[in-house]
Amino acid sequence: MTYTDKEKKFKRFTVTTALPYANGPIHIGHMAGVYIPADIYCRYLRMMGEEVLFIGGSDEHGVPVTIRAKKEGCTPQDVVDRYHNIIKKSFEEFGTSFDIYSRTTSNIHQKTASDFFLKLYNEGKFIEQTSKQYYDEQEQTFLADRYITGTCPICGNERAYGDQCESCGSSLNATDLINPKSALSGNVPVLKETKHWFLPLNDYESFLKEWILENHKEWKTNVYGQCKSWLDNGLQPRAVTRDLDWGIKVPLKDAEGKVLYVWFDAPIGYISNTIEYDKDNWEKWWKQKDTKLVHFIGKDNIVFHCIVFPSMLKAAGDYILPENVPANEFLNLEGDKISTSRNWAVWLNEYLEDFPNKQDVLKYVLCANAPETKDNDFTWKDFQTRNNSELVAILGNFVNRTIVLTHKYFNGKVPAKNELNELDKQTIEEIKLYPEKIGTLIENYKFRDALFEMMNLARLGNKYLTENEPWKTFKTDIKRTETVLNISLQICANLAILMEPFVQFSAKKLQQMLNLNSLKWFEAGNCELLKVGQEIQPAELLFERIEDADIQKQLNKLEASKKANAINNAEVTPQKPNVSFEDFSAMDIRVGTILEAEKVTKTKKLLKLTIDTGIDKRTIVSGIAEYFSPEEIIGKQVSVLVNLAPKNLKGIESQGMILMAENADGELCFVEPQKQFKNGSTIK
Ligand code: MF3
Ligand code: ZN
Repeated sequence: MTYTDKEKKFKRFTVTTALPYANGPIHIGHMAGVYIPADIYCRYLRMMGEEVLFIGGSDEHGVPVTIRAKKEGCTPQDVVDRYHNIIKKSFEEFGTSFDIYSRTTSNIHQKTASDFFLKLYNEGKFIEQTSKQYYDEQEQTFLADRYITGTCPICGNERAYGDQCESCGSSLNATDLINPKSALSGNVPVLKETKHWFLPLNDYESFLKEWILENHKEWKTNVYGQCKSWLDNGLQPRAVTRDLDWGIKVPLKDAEGKVLYVWFDAPIGYISNTIEYDKDNWEKWWKQKDTKLVHFIGKDNIVFHCIVFPSMLKAAGDYILPENVPANEFLNLEGDKISTSRNWAVWLNEYLEDFPNKQDVLKYVLCANAPETKDNDFTWKDFQTRNNSELVAILGNFVNRTIVLTHKYFNGKVPAKNELNELDKQTIEEIKLYPEKIGTLIENYKFRDALFEMMNLARLGNKYLTENEPWKTFKTDIKRTETVLNISLQICANLAILMEPFVQFSAKKLQQMLNLNSLKWFEAGNCELLKVGQEIQPAELLFERIEDADIQKQLNKLEASKKANAINNAEVTPQKPNVSFEDFSAMDIRVGTILEAEKVTKTKKLLKLTIDTGIDKRTIVSGIAEYFSPEEIIGKQVSVLVNLAPKNLKGIESQGMILMAENADGELCFVEPQKQFKNGSTIK
């Protein structure tokens, strides 16, 4: 049925999307990388009459969830409940056409994953291995890599994690860290023996080499390349269990305190969700050779979907393997890496609040600019430009002009197609090519190019209308106006079908304007979609301009999170040992006013100040010259430690000290009374 499957090898499609971690909302990077291309693919296939199962769901295990719960003082279940609901709701509002969106804490999944493990265990597909892992004796628990911090052996960053240094990007083993510390208690962890089950990936190496490197040369080069490099380097056994209490319990007797590794259970979630969707027929989606399995993922998931999960499926025996894994690269935001922890992202739920009913605009922009072959950058300026000069100026404008003119000249009825000239014939011929052209690109996961071709059809329409000027011929040659508007309307109808996978809300709107019911892909590609005399509805704008103010608002939001980060990231100096109240009372701190200020010559940092302390006027030398010029501080009220023993600084006797607040960057500011206060007032 599809354009490229000439031998009709496949009768149905199982399409999966990486299950997002339920420890934060979804952002544009996820959408551009995974969910938008997958949604376009599935919508297209359904319009081709294919049987499709489009699977999504939340990935709810893993250490980041437990860390978040600990930070927030709630349970891991609370965390995943909250984010699962947020994520699910934003997908619904965005219009992602999942057939099922479930979660890995569902009962069905617990059982499916547990049974999957047991089957492999019983068939001897695992190896048992005892190794030494870091253990926190105070908390009596093994430490996940993320729970160990220490100094990176490569770059010296003192806050590296047991699995990765975020400063230099190296991936690490917990035992590589210098001065390891438990993030739970702060204590030095000890190494303790623990038993785990491993999938011996090395045993699957030759199968994988043949399956991928020989038989799937058509995979995207970024995917194929990563697989090749993993396979060339040789595979090692991988642990499929962890010492943790959040996750799916290892279903064995001697496995207290152990759970399945999140990357073992999560992909099984695709299968569990299928069972939840269609309990009696789930196997046809996973075990029948005429089912095409396609995994949509981001590039950080390639090894798991091309090497680990296929090995698991192979080990289990009767499963099909993915036909393709069209992984995308990453999307950056305004030149910086998207980051949940730094709040450097455009969150889908916030976008939907700020731009209500503009799902299609984001979908369009993220597809037009998708990181299909290399990392790409999302900028708000580009978002605005693509909306205003593509969606509004090309697609929206063409449709609007055509429908408005039809109402103006022909009472909203489709006019006749009369004698055709060369240009008409040529245009009709061109229209014929679009369904296959766009369809083939989609089938080959070239969504950007496919979208571009869809817009080319709108460009063609715009040009046709402009060149034929039906508003001019209306008085001189009405037959010509009829023909031109008929063909323009037919182009609109073609668009209403062919734009559906990409911008479904606007497609629906256009279908309604044209009173068009059919949505079959094959029905596009001709100029007979609308019947002569058929009525159409009044024109409604498909897209609206986005103004500078809306864009500025988004830029301000990002600016604010940059600032907040700068403040949050700064380290707080540890607390000093306790002092007695008497010690504190011994300090005589007063409100004073700066009367005079001048730079101390031949120094960079020092200012010589004359202070009215209420007791007297005295000289104090202060190291603030890098932050304040003498002029700007004269007249300022400050806090002064007046009974500090006098000290000679660069030949000047300093009689006291001005109190300053200092942040982690060494920036200084005064500590001043919050209203004008009498000099000499005590501070205690
Ligand atoms: N949660 C993972 C991530 O966001 C993806 C899991 S995909 C699955 O990177 F196959 F494991 F489900
Ligand atoms: Zn480092």
